[in-house]
Amino acid sequence: MGSSNEKRGKGCWCWLFIILIAAAVVAAAVITIKNKNDKSHPKAPPVPGPPGAITQKYADALKAATQFFNVQKCIVCIVYFRFWAEWRCDFIIAAGKLVNNKIPWRGDSALKDGSEEDVDMSKGMYDAGDNMKFNFPMAFTATVLSWTILEYGDQMDVVKQLEPAQDSLKWITDYLINSHPSENVLYIQVGDPEADHKCWQKPESMTEARPVTQVNTSSPGTEVAAETAAALASASLVFKKINSTYSDLLLKHAGQLFTFANTYRRSYSVSIPKVQTYYNSTGYGDELLWAASWLYHATEDMSYLKFVTGKDGKQFGNFGNPTWFSWDNKLAGAQVLLSRVNFFGQEERSNDEKLGLQMYRKTAEAVMCGLLPDSPSATSSRTDGGLIWVSEWNALQHPVAAAFLAIVYSDYMLTSQTASIYCSGKTYTAADLRNFAKSQADYVLGDNPMKMSYLVGYGDKYPEYVHHRGASIPADAKTGCKGFEWLESTEPNPNVAVGALVGGPFQNETYIDSRNNSMQGEPTTYNSAIIVGLLSGLLTTSSVVRSFT
Ligand SMILES: *[C@@H]1O[C@H](CO)[C@@H](O)[C@H](O)[C@H]1NC(C)=O
Ligand SMILES: *[C@@H]1O[C@H](CO)[C@@H](O)[C@H](O)[C@H]1NC(C)=O
Ligand SMILES: *[C@@H]1O[C@H](CO)[C@@H](O)[C@H](O)[C@H]1NC(C)=O
Ligand SMILES: *[C@@H]1O[C@H](CO)[C@@H](O)[C@H](O)[C@H]1NC(C)=O
Ligand SMILES: *[C@@H]1O[C@H](CO)[C@@H](O)[C@H](O)[C@H]1NC(C)=O
Repeated sequence: MGSSNEKRGKGCWCWLFIILIAAAVVAAAVITIKNKNDKSHPKAPPVPGPPGAITQKYADALKAATQFFNVQKCIVCIVYFRFWAEWRCDFIIAAGKLVNNKIPWRGDSALKDGSEEDVDMSKGMYDAGDNMKFNFPMAFTATVLSWTILEYGDQMDVVKQLEPAQDSLKWITDYLINSHPSENVLYIQVGDPEADHKCWQKPESMTEARPVTQVNTSSPGTEVAAETAAALASASLVFKKINSTYSDLLLKHAGQLFTFANTYRRSYSVSIPKVQTYYNSTGYGDELLWAASWLYHATEDMSYLKFVTGKDGKQFGNFGNPTWFSWDNKLAGAQVLLSRVNFFGQEERSNDEKLGLQMYRKTAEAVMCGLLPDSPSATSSRTDGGLIWVSEWNALQHPVAAAFLAIVYSDYMLTSQTASIYCSGKTYTAADLRNFAKSQADYVLGDNPMKMSYLVGYGDKYPEYVHHRGASIPADAKTGCKGFEWLESTEPNPNVAVGALVGGPFQNETYIDSRNNSMQGEPTTYNSAIIVGLLSGLLTTSSVVRSFT
């Protein structure tokens, strides 16, 4: 702990101790009396004020996690060496061209992305261990990052992670704005995945063509346009007080993209079948509701509320059925986000809207009941160690995303002094949900049978053979496209991709730390967004704001 503490006199600590004990005795007495008086209507604990004491463990993990966005930025500073893990390099990359480059072993990459169609798509983030930019999951990354900042910005600020998170968000939203050159055209991808996967190279050495792909009125892509709308609408709230011009610009694009998505309804997986190989979408209804929910929060325009509570809500809401929150399915996210309106802002709604909002909250509650390990409707998709486990590929995406929703919902309960939720007759508190969220985070950070952290750069033992081109190739290597010797090398990665959250364990809780094991060992930017969200929520118990605007 900080040395300044040690300098304080012992007498001082002793007094503090006595005062604390006295305070605890009084508090206990008050609580006992209160409980006696109020047995039938248990009240939730009082709402805590601004961020309280920070849990150091989650702060340390968060500091690691936010760095992966820098790793994935498409210009310079791709990977930090271990010593320099604390460095930030945004100032070097801000202009796109190198200024004050203090990291001689790194250079620009993907500067010309988009130039063939006269759009500047040089920013943005690589998707995972390869050098592709896939806008569908990238936009989801931005939406989750925005949501995290909106709910937990205060506490992120206390541990100095707010600005880095805002910078990373803007690095994506700048790119998304540029991807949307006219109302009904949205670029959705840079790079050719076939060509990209035939190369094992650092982004800086890329020479192959980087084709761009678009959706438009003849080949629409409702989910990708709607997710981009969600990203830009949520980000417009983040930047509202920082730069209102930028915020307005984000909102303008968000509104146009929602109209485009909603008017020309077709899945991008249908319009452009080749996208199915990597980020196949299983439907666009969830993105429409999610985007409308964010637009409602950003604009307070009732037409968006009517959209989610009216016939589109009924058609796509899948009410009553819990789902897994992921880059492909945002229903559970929309349910929690709209519960926010139900928890905090019911006054001026019509009965239909109130009823509609109730359906979202009820379904969000069903999601929560599924997650709580001892609830009657608990999901059985778990490992013996208690980790939510749904899919073999990138297994950690589901537990981490679910735990993020649980912590948000728990804080809505706390802030609104909602004592409990009901799961088939049993009651659970905000603290139960927080404990669930903690259990998932703790598992990820090392409390697991492998006794390893799945977050690179956190803890004593973490994956050393992450499936990541930039991390696996020495900075001075000249191997170009055919750098497969670095994939096959038995040495650990020469560069540490700090903050990478890998795919994670098998259902039997084992993990094979091997570079070609992309199923378990490949990090993604959207994994980083959800772990940043979860860790930010766990920093301290605190109330959330009642309104984003
Ligand atoms: C519309 O998008 C499709 C699919 O990406 C593309 O093949 C087509 O060329 C685009 N249309 C125009 C006018 O650019
Ligand atoms: C605010 O955002 C606008 C639009 O992106 C930009 O042109 C302007 O430079 C920004 N202002 C500041 C102070 O950063
Ligand atoms: C993509 O998703 C659709 C809808 O769920 C499904 O029908 C299709 O088989 C999937 N494609 C691939 C390649 O998995
Ligand atoms: C764990 O599961 C994986 C994948 O199903 C399997 O390959 C491996 O052999 C299992 N390990 C043990 C120790 O059971
Ligand atoms: C890596 O895995 C891929 C896909 O499973 C396989 O085609 C390739 O041969 C493997 N490469 C090495 C070096 O093991």
